[in-house]
Amino acid sequence: MSAYWLGVDIGTGGSRALLVDELGKIRAARTVEHDGMRMEKPLWAEQHPDNWWAAARQAIREVLAESGGGDVKGVALSGQMHGLVILDAAGAVIRPSLIWCDQRSQAQVDAINQKAGRQKILDCIANPVLTGFTLPKLLWVRDNEPANYEKVRRLLLPKDYIRYKLTGEFATEVSDASGTALFDVVNRRWSLELAGILGIDPAILPTVVESQEQTGVISQAAAEATGLRVGTPVFGGGGDQAASAIGNGIVEPGIVSDTIGTSGVVFAHMDNVAYDPAGRVHTFCHAVKNKWHVMGVTQGAGLSLQWFRNQLASNASYDSITAAAAESPAGAKGLFWLPYLMGERTPHLDSQCRAAWIGLTAAHTRNDMARAILEGVCYSQKDCLDIVQSLGCAVESVRLSGGGARSAFWKQLFAGVFNKRIVVLETQEGSAYGAALLAMAGSGHFAGAVQACRATVREVETVQPPAEAAFYQRAHAVYRSLYPALREAYKAIDVL
Ligand code: XUL
Repeated sequence: MSAYWLGVDIGTGGSRALLVDELGKIRAARTVEHDGMRMEKPLWAEQHPDNWWAAARQAIREVLAESGGGDVKGVALSGQMHGLVILDAAGAVIRPSLIWCDQRSQAQVDAINQKAGRQKILDCIANPVLTGFTLPKLLWVRDNEPANYEKVRRLLLPKDYIRYKLTGEFATEVSDASGTALFDVVNRRWSLELAGILGIDPAILPTVVESQEQTGVISQAAAEATGLRVGTPVFGGGGDQAASAIGNGIVEPGIVSDTIGTSGVVFAHMDNVAYDPAGRVHTFCHAVKNKWHVMGVTQGAGLSLQWFRNQLASNASYDSITAAAAESPAGAKGLFWLPYLMGERTPHLDSQCRAAWIGLTAAHTRNDMARAILEGVCYSQKDCLDIVQSLGCAVESVRLSGGGARSAFWKQLFAGVFNKRIVVLETQEGSAYGAALLAMAGSGHFAGAVQACRATVREVETVQPPAEAAFYQRAHAVYRSLYPALREAYKAIDVL
């Protein structure tokens, strides 16, 4: 009977299940979409964990059916990071999850900084506390929904809620725990010190393991829900970015990835911990044992394009939008897009800033607006790349994955704006694939995540920087001048 390993990714748009064979070749893959984000107010974003579970179990069922049978030797999970899932004493979800891009918790971030002190926070977790992270979301519930907070007995991250449904265990792993703002990233354990300062009961925190360690087995109830065999081991996996980095082979210094999903992330491996004193990029544990990574995040990368498609392009296909963008000249005739649809992390750490087209004239067309969106996302990712490089991470080439890697036009644009070689891999699967590789490493099929990557990750295409690269360097400088010019206006809008 064929041996398979299953990676399950709980994304923002949908849940994906993916089966690989002993060579790491994909044998079946399925995505089941989620309901969109519920956005009751600007910059708020919620999803219900039970929708993730419904999508995940359907995706698993379908992928098992598609593979036509075989023995699943192990499962690992990846998922959108930072989301707050809170459970009551009976293990039921108390309220919908405040997900990664929700920005409502600035007051809680300010209070945490005041109570703990910025330096103590850096000492405890190697990062500043940001609105996107889990801890201030928990405190938002405490401050605004005390009856819900009273009921909290367990805190989980999105993929770990699925782990709980699969195994009955309350567990997470180091890469995702790093994004909670309660994790001692240097020592790879919960920061009981910070929890103590803030009055968080450590009993609500899940057990934490390295990403390839086992966290239980498929239960009877989960077997009935998914079709997996009772007793199948479930391994840690990773936050979506760390898992995607495993899928992209970012497991040694010198290779950097850029993944365009709803967010956009520039990701570099680190053998030793280093962090940006201004906290503009995150220093988190990698899904490789005893290694770390640094990443810069654009909140609204693919989201910018999705928003444009849904609101202004009559749900046209992404291919037709990028084809339209290619009709506009480099620089979109002086039109810029600031992709701050959900505030921004890197480099501004500003939960209040908003998106904008700057430079619109009556001569501009929808094609120019589309091009400005794609260019704006690239400029924002260049901001991330510049900071990652400033931390001493060498960047010879950038491995592009996610939506950006599927468009010839976008690949050229990234090569031009980054002024780096863009490399595309044979397997374009990112997080779910990385999770499957972690399951292979966990079950001993490979000696570790690095060996899994070496055996499976292959480069198939290289795009050199185009002639417009010099123009994009100048345009990027203009782009960078726009946010500071608007910062005060954003604050005024926020208190209107
Ligand atoms: C990473 C981040 C996003 C989400 C959604 O810090 O917030 O990548 O995980 O994909």
